[in-house]
Amino acid sequence: MNHRGTIVVSGASGLIGSALKCSLLSRGYLVRELSRKPNLPRGQSWDPATEQMDASILEDTIAVVHLSGEPIAQRWTFAVRQKILESRVKSTAMLAKNLAQMDSPPPLIVASGINYYGASCSGENGDITESSQSGTGFLASVCREWEGAAQPLINVGGRVVFMRTGVVLSAQGGALAKLLLPFRLGFGGPIGHGQQHMSWIAISDLVSAYVKAIEDGSIAGPINAVSPNSITNKAFTTALARSLFRPAILPLPAFLLRVVFGCMAKETLLADMNVIPQRLLDMQFEWQTPDINSALLSCLKERPNG
Ligand SMILES: NC(=O)c1ccc[n+]([C@@H]2O[C@H](COP(=O)([O-])OP(=O)(O)OC[C@H]3O[C@@H](n4cnc5c(N)ncnc54)[C@H](OP(=O)(O)O)[C@@H]3O)[C@@H](O)[C@H]2O)c1
Repeated sequence: MNHRGTIVVSGASGLIGSALKCSLLSRGYLVRELSRKPNLPRGQSWDPATEQMDASILEDTIAVVHLSGEPIAQRWTFAVRQKILESRVKSTAMLAKNLAQMDSPPPLIVASGINYYGASCSGENGDITESSQSGTGFLASVCREWEGAAQPLINVGGRVVFMRTGVVLSAQGGALAKLLLPFRLGFGGPIGHGQQHMSWIAISDLVSAYVKAIEDGSIAGPINAVSPNSITNKAFTTALARSLFRPAILPLPAFLLRVVFGCMAKETLLADMNVIPQRLLDMQFEWQTPDINSALLSCLKERPNG
């Protein structure tokens, strides 16, 4: 069978990468993984920490999707902060620099986060769209530097898309998978006062948004990859408990999260983020699960015991 072209995916072993890889293969693309694992076929191993990569992996490709980065959901010691930042900035800079040297570079689709807008962006000063200013906090500065590292490719006219992603819902990993056990045991409940907004996207819709960014050559710049229906944390936990036929009555106190996770809790679990996917709405992107109940139902079907 003729294939539709080769796409390089870094971090293809991760939550988003493994779902994206499956979808790309089923659509007839070939996927070349870029990973820190040793013993991979020639050119597929890289080491962002020491800025080592074999640029030949980029040859004869139609797109590069960059998903790798040190996990965010851990306590942010000084060393962890450095890793979170450097793993994203150095790797993006390496890809952008190598792509910029090519005669006709393929597009670069880079993961980013809605954390770009800061941990408190619920829209008191107007809707938060792709044209809103970046905010304050560690993750906002990580997102700015991460996106900024792609500038060498933009400077030579390359197409670069930044997928500013909200909380990804999947039963296979990430925030939802971590909540399933306590909620199944009946220990679920809102986080803190529960009034903080949460901008989320189901993994299947996120994968479709990545595919659109790859295939539509007119898309460049930031895309808010979230559902058009953000909800409060209380509404989310109520919907999750309902979908599992359990109560959601035990709140998780904010002070406890701050003690256990420090700033990470403040900028993620307790963050108030109400972000509008304006560009996806403008391009009439069709979410398969735009509301939280259908999204949870679809995610929980992902595994047999869901
Ligand atoms: N999941 C979410 O809710 C969410 C929300 C917003 C933004 N994002 C961003 O989207 C991207 C993909 O997310 P994900 O949830 O799929 O992440 P993930 O499951 O943690 O996978 C990321 C991949 O990055 C590589 N990696 C891990 N530590 C690294 C390090 N120190 N240096 C370089 N590479 C490293 C790993 O691949 P190898 O071991 O093969 O190298 C791993 O499979 C991330 O940048 C993440 O910050 C995710």
